[in-house]
Amino acid sequence: MTNPILRRNIASELVSHADNSLIPGRQSEHPSLSNNSLEIIARPAAILERVRDWRRQGLRVALVPTMGNLHEGHATLVAKAREHADRVVVSVFVNPLQFGPNEDFQTYPRTPDEDRMLLEHYRADLLFVPEVSDMYPHGMQHHTMVQVPELSDILCGVVRPGHFVGVATVVAKLFNVVQPDVALFGEKDFQQLAIIKRMVIDLCMPLQVIGIPTVRETNGLAMSSRNRYLSDEQRQLAPRIYAALSGVKQQLLDGRRDFAALEQQADEQLRAAGFKPDYVAIRDADTLYQPGDLTKKLVVLTAARLGRARLIDNVQVEL
Ligand code: PAJ
Repeated sequence: MTNPILRRNIASELVSHADNSLIPGRQSEHPSLSNNSLEIIARPAAILERVRDWRRQGLRVALVPTMGNLHEGHATLVAKAREHADRVVVSVFVNPLQFGPNEDFQTYPRTPDEDRMLLEHYRADLLFVPEVSDMYPHGMQHHTMVQVPELSDILCGVVRPGHFVGVATVVAKLFNVVQPDVALFGEKDFQQLAIIKRMVIDLCMPLQVIGIPTVRETNGLAMSSRNRYLSDEQRQLAPRIYAALSGVKQQLLDGRRDFAALEQQADEQLRAAGFKPDYVAIRDADTLYQPGDLTKKLVVLTAARLGRARLIDNVQVEL
């Protein structure tokens, strides 16, 4: 899992390459304004045009959708995308439609300069940075919505009603704007990945969805933009999420099948350490349903609050 290139401290390395005269956004839509091959486009129509050009040349196109504040997890998706396509498009859009009224849309970390430098470093070809008004020109209220049933209402969907409708809707729009051959998503957001795969099948979207294993800090903490919300002290605690999930995994591998008791045990362990878990759940990795006695591929998932941050993580178990 550990990629030596990714393990280097990208942030410090990139600062030395910084060119502060480049400001991502509408002024930067001309490739000539960029000091290397990363082109930055804000308008959906301009993206479509560029991708059509590439297609005419017979090139294969990958899309990596993100909300920015990019870290090594995102960088891994970009690096993998290069293996699957000739051109890599990355979108950075903090999608208001997937945030609840009391969630962190306003404060979600926005780091456009650092994001652009990371994408230059990882040789993305095109950065798509739409404004909210580009994506929702008639507002969000009366917008057509994409709802993937059942999968959207369980696990994180219980505590974040409407969240996955917002995700599926924006991802469907991004797919239509970019029309990629392949799109890459992280397994860190396991439920999101399952929902997107289902949407693509149900709506006959002509692209391949690829899931990429979770990229972690050396202490096990899954990388996430929301780790920024953690104090130093909370950062010391946060790896216990992965430790708790790994503990459940080990017990499953040792033959335990009392799923409810294992979930309860991990929940209590996290509470004792100072987390407020929304759930700890052992599910069938293919369907996200409760596993049966014959289920061979399991996933142990959790979402847990620690201070201001709501952290999610999961581990897969092959029996
Ligand atoms: P965001 O949280 O920015 O994540 C963008 C992509 O990076 C997702 O596919 C996510 O699963 C992946 N990712 C994040 N952290 C990762 C890690 N530690 N290891 C591997 N992959 C990781 O997820 C979203 O944005 C949004 O919901 C989006 C799909 C862009 C729709 O708005």
